[in-house]
Amino acid sequence: MAISDAVQQLEKLKSKIEASGVTPELAAQATQLVFGTGNPGADIIFIGEAPGKNEDLQGEPFVGAAGKFLNEMLAGIGLKREDIYITNIVKYRPPHNRDPLPEEKTAFLPFLQEQIAIIKPKLIVTLGRHSMDVLLPGLKISQVHGQPKRYKGQVYLPLFHPAAALYNGGMRQTLIEDFSLIPAILEKL
Ligand code: URA
Repeated sequence: MAISDAVQQLEKLKSKIEASGVTPELAAQATQLVFGTGNPGADIIFIGEAPGKNEDLQGEPFVGAAGKFLNEMLAGIGLKREDIYITNIVKYRPPHNRDPLPEEKTAFLPFLQEQIAIIKPKLIVTLGRHSMDVLLPGLKISQVHGQPKRYKGQVYLPLFHPAAALYNGGMRQTLIEDFSLIPAILEKL
């Protein structure tokens, strides 16, 4: 698909989510829908959990402290935010940054699947257990992080969440090491 078609389809999908009435309690408390940003023709999509305070205010995913760390790890493998696409499973900020509820993740899943179908990435990187749970059910992040998984014809790389790893030295190092596997995985796809 031409990039301009993908941009148009993503715009339509964004409007569709806004009009859908999905998670009305979250929508009522959020500033705005945080849909996703980056290159609609990207080979990789990164999928996080849900917008936090900064993301809710700015309307973009991963713009706070976790996003800064993510940008550093991307730079470490020679990528910029413009090279990838980034979004979250839940697209409205949960109040007080609580974990998204299972039914909230389920409610957003069909929209996430449409978003993925428009972008057609070679690799989906899940950040943390919330996006992994909906896309790769039944796995434990502590056991599978950094291991590429093929599921229903799509290749995934489950990683720890950058926010969880930010202030945990061991997990931070593990996440950096797992991240460094991305170029070789992409190369093979
Ligand atoms: N954490 C997430 O999972 N997503 C964001 O957009 C920001 C922080």
